Amino acid sequence: MKIASDWQSGFFKNSFYNPASPAAVAHAPAEAAFVLKQLKLKKGAALLDLCCGPGRHAVEFARKGLLVTGVDFSGEYLKEAAARAKKKKTPLRLLRGDMRRLKFSREFDAAVNLFTSFGYFLKFSDDLKTLKGVARALLPGGLFLIDIINGDLIRRNFTPRDWHDLGDHYLLEARRPFKDGQVNTWTRIDKKTGRIQERTFFDRMYDKRSLSAALRKAGLEPLKFWGGFDGRPLSAKTIRLICLARKA
Ligand SMILES: C[S@@+](CC[C@H](N)C(=O)[O-])C[C@H]1O[C@@H](n2cnc3c(N)ncnc32)[C@H](O)[C@@H]1O
Repeated sequence: MKIASDWQSGFFKNSFYNPASPAAVAHAPAEAAFVLKQLKLKKGAALLDLCCGPGRHAVEFARKGLLVTGVDFSGEYLKEAAARAKKKKTPLRLLRGDMRRLKFSREFDAAVNLFTSFGYFLKFSDDLKTLKGVARALLPGGLFLIDIINGDLIRRNFTPRDWHDLGDHYLLEARRPFKDGQVNTWTRIDKKTGRIQERTFFDRMYDKRSLSAALRKAGLEPLKFWGGFDGRPLSAKTIRLICLARKA
């Protein structure tokens, strides 16, 4: 399993993967409601959805009266986000860009990064660049909510491979520990055409301790943790690691 440092450019393509599966879209309103409950923003507040993808959360935030800016590097997903916003008749500001090179300065009351859209870079310094960009983008005292996979659970229950039936295709997942994360190879088999596609990606595994340390290095102070969007406490058994942090 070889990993290219720019693996993301071949992975986040509709022909291979789209985070807005029907199930994920169905979960978005409840997830967005949990996020908004924690952020306690007033109508008209400015929110950054970093790595917004096809905008399934961003439109929910905008529908609640927030001024939402979605940033993502995938043109295909941003197009879908724009269409979703148009359909729901909600304004969305969508910008194409790399999460490591955010140009905002003291612009947002809060920022979010959802559905494991972090930890993709082989160099930890790139993760740090991302978090520092978030901190810079926030107004003083601004909040940041991040939702990633819980590395603690993954490490304790390491499974080298499994597979899923995802409706129109099968997905085979193979993994191996690499650096402070995992290299994963996904093989997608289209049920109708039999087409087989394979992509390999890297995911740095964060737990409460390592995420807290990274946030602090970037000037973000962790305040609270959860293990799911239903508000369950974080533990070694929860699949999500959700953290609310404040710009120090
Ligand atoms: C797992 S998806 C989640 C998308 C969205 N947050 C959601 O919950 O539906 C990860 C997203 O990160 C984006 N992404 C990956 N690498 C990126 C980068 N270097 N800069 C900006 N966005 C990136 C992808 O295009 C994709 O939309």
